[in-house]
Amino acid sequence: MSRVVVTGRIPEAALESLRAEHEVDAWDGTESIGREELLRRVAGADAIVSLLTERIDGELLDAAGPQLKVVANVAVGYDNIDVPACTERGVTATNTPGVLTDATADIALSLILMATRRLGEGERIIRSGESWKWGMFFLLGSSLQGKTLGIIGMGGIGQATARRAKAFGMEVVYQSRSEIDPDIAAELGARRVELDELLSVSDVVSVHCPYGPATHHLIGAEELAAMKDTAYLVNTARGPIVDEAALATALREGVIAGAGLDVFENEPQVHPELLVLDNVVLVPHLGSATVETRTAMAVLAADNALAVLNGQQPPTPIR
Ligand code: GLV
Repeated sequence: MSRVVVTGRIPEAALESLRAEHEVDAWDGTESIGREELLRRVAGADAIVSLLTERIDGELLDAAGPQLKVVANVAVGYDNIDVPACTERGVTATNTPGVLTDATADIALSLILMATRRLGEGERIIRSGESWKWGMFFLLGSSLQGKTLGIIGMGGIGQATARRAKAFGMEVVYQSRSEIDPDIAAELGARRVELDELLSVSDVVSVHCPYGPATHHLIGAEELAAMKDTAYLVNTARGPIVDEAALATALREGVIAGAGLDVFENEPQVHPELLVLDNVVLVPHLGSATVETRTAMAVLAADNALAVLNGQQPPTPIR
């Protein structure tokens, strides 16, 4: 029997499958486990099932000890994990691609609709008790039909967002490290372009690339200035891909029309200037937040941990 440390609350189905085979020490506090507590608990762990709020670095791997075999992240993004530090220590790192693709694309579309149709503003007016009535020019937004969506990062989530946007009558261009499957590109009518072209032709830019040194502040003042002043920026990937201070300035000065953010540079903090702007929709990292999706993510992470502990190939290793 191995010792499995789970760094936060996860759905019962995943805990059950871990407990069926191993001794499980799961943090069940409503607040995140603190660093000190985490360093203490991982000592002697053979597997760590981690949430994206916990940093898994060399210090933590050493605190666990040389018997550690696997870190199974309950997230597709793994910028919280120092993968080279895992590799150096012979620890397998895994993530949860695929199972959250649709939920995250749904949130991207939600933010696109909320921003372009000014739904947050409308809700705030009603809740404030301010008087309002239907008016020909009241809270006019912008239609999606015939407009262009620019997708940065055309992996599974980018493609799922493109598919939804197509159903709304949008054209799709994308920027990606690699060409996508030609059949999928044809189905979506999606054209691969360089980032500067994407920024200049898109009416909505949606960010779906992973975060790392190469994508830190990929969208900054210069990129925002390259967008149309009628365009919107949506980010459901990772906060630091967008320079939040530059975005706040661009939104305030009308450099772009609006934005929708599910992720932030210093979560859970949000840049104070964004909080007072009406042309940005702010939601608290809900991309994968459905019961079904979170259950599937946790079960996949548990399957990854169990496979490695049993000496098998995990279903979704980080490569
Ligand atoms: C969520 O943000 C994830 O990466 O799964």
